[in-house]
Amino acid sequence: MRKVIVAGNWKMNKTAKEAAEFFAEFKPLVADVKNAGIVIGVPFTALETATRETAGSNIKIAAENMNANDSGAYTGEVSPLMLKDLGVEYVILGHSERREYYGETDAIVNEKVKAALKHGLKPILCVGEKLEERENGTTEKVVEEQIVGGLKDVCAEKMANVVIAYEPVWAIGTGKTATPAQAQEVHAFIRNLLVKMYNAEVAENVTVQYGGSMNDANAAELITQKDIDGGLVGGASLIPEKFTVIVKAGDSAVK
Ligand code: 13P
Repeated sequence: MRKVIVAGNWKMNKTAKEAAEFFAEFKPLVADVKNAGIVIGVPFTALETATRETAGSNIKIAAENMNANDSGAYTGEVSPLMLKDLGVEYVILGHSERREYYGETDAIVNEKVKAALKHGLKPILCVGEKLEERENGTTEKVVEEQIVGGLKDVCAEKMANVVIAYEPVWAIGTGKTATPAQAQEVHAFIRNLLVKMYNAEVAENVTVQYGGSMNDANAAELITQKDIDGGLVGGASLIPEKFTVIVKAGDSAVK
């Protein structure tokens, strides 16, 4: 059985003080969640507050990016060791906004994925096609390149700690969600690709999340699709009540 994980991605939102307020409200709302994993990705400046406020709870914290090096002359960057030191468990890598605005290639993302795994951080590897790629029929080719590139030299054993998030770029922040059937089709493609890259057991056990305008109204029908194992949620993860509805949809979905 693979784990359903519902993760938030706050992006560049919330100060440390606002993060503390969020967790004070959110923690009791999800205290009874047993089956689904709950992860929230917060800005670097809120990580310390977030790990402190969620210590001992069922909520895990993610960073939204990371440098692949342990330390050194990389002004403005944050290393895996620094994240581990704060009690961070997950790191979102290769988000389409980082690919688009900060030039992250599959090779760069791959270095980060390997560095995360080396230090015992769990990468959430984001992949997904742009609108023009969907329209010209290259969705599968693009997703395959991103997964093969992002997971280069990652062995089958290490895949137990990898989460994949399929986020069609045209659905991010646009209010245009992929239909459950559209999303399921790509998720099934990803699972088959993992069979080819690894084996059936790895493919069966990897959590593959959907992201892109997931909200409290559409989460249940997405997460109940056979190969959709949770979500990576942007805007709706900023509001405790809305995110709770999505987490609970994940908690009752059995894979
Ligand atoms: P939205 O849920 O705001 O569309 O963002 C999705 C996303 O990019 C999560 O990583």
